[in-house]
Amino acid sequence: MESKSRIRIPDLLEMKRNGRKITMLTAYDATMARLLDNAGIDVLLVGDSLGMVVLGEDSTLGVTLEMMVHHTRAVVKGTRQALVVADMPFLSFQSSMRDAVRNAGKLMQQGGAAAVKLEGGAAAAGAIRRLTDCGIPVMGHIGLVPQSVHQLGGFRPVGRTGAEADALLRDAEAVEGAGAFALVLESMPAKLAGRITEERSIPTIGIGAGVECDGQVLVSYDAFGFFDAFVPRFVKRYAELGTEVTEAARRYIDEVRRGEFPAREHSILTESGA
Ligand code: KIV
Repeated sequence: MESKSRIRIPDLLEMKRNGRKITMLTAYDATMARLLDNAGIDVLLVGDSLGMVVLGEDSTLGVTLEMMVHHTRAVVKGTRQALVVADMPFLSFQSSMRDAVRNAGKLMQQGGAAAVKLEGGAAAAGAIRRLTDCGIPVMGHIGLVPQSVHQLGGFRPVGRTGAEADALLRDAEAVEGAGAFALVLESMPAKLAGRITEERSIPTIGIGAGVECDGQVLVSYDAFGFFDAFVPRFVKRYAELGTEVTEAARRYIDEVRRGEFPAREHSILTESGA
């Protein structure tokens, strides 16, 4: 979309109808959000992946609502055009409808998000329905749902058996039926994701789910080469910025130690130029 106006939820539905692919990346701070927004990204997801790629945890389970609000505020400040979606962290919506509304409300009122994303299929439909009834737009997320890593037995692809595929088709139907405006499909066979995309009228956004989805999302720290604790097979590295940062830091250390930095042009001079 060439226009400079802010992307809104109906724009995503229109993109599906027109066959224009939706682009989504994660962001966790204002500076990265500004860079991605300037590039023309449609959606910025403040993913709870921040627990792993920013905070160094080995899962997303330790991410709290307060952390999500804090990072969402920063991303919103750095964004002019993209739709900002904030992840609902582990156990922030399952305990009661009241908690779901209160916590999603905080992500919007205090964080400034335009929508929330929550993990889960048929089991999450009640919360999705309640939130959308309150005017809170919800993006669903099915397939490999990282908040259930222990139940799944690891970060593994799902939907490869007939039974798992049938369950995912039912999940997609339940999430759309509950009022979600879009659906993330994570780590599942491309054929299954293609079928869900064809059957559902809301846009699907794939990560490790093939090219037939209506859009794609990647964790920006993976895509730009900042994070290499593990790189899932479905990630494409569009840059190796981690290596560049380490090399730049080495040059800085070297120049400081040699007394080459700061040079005259980086120094504050007296009025007489001394
Ligand atoms: O938290 C996250 O970054 C996500 C994406 C992987 C979709 O949920």
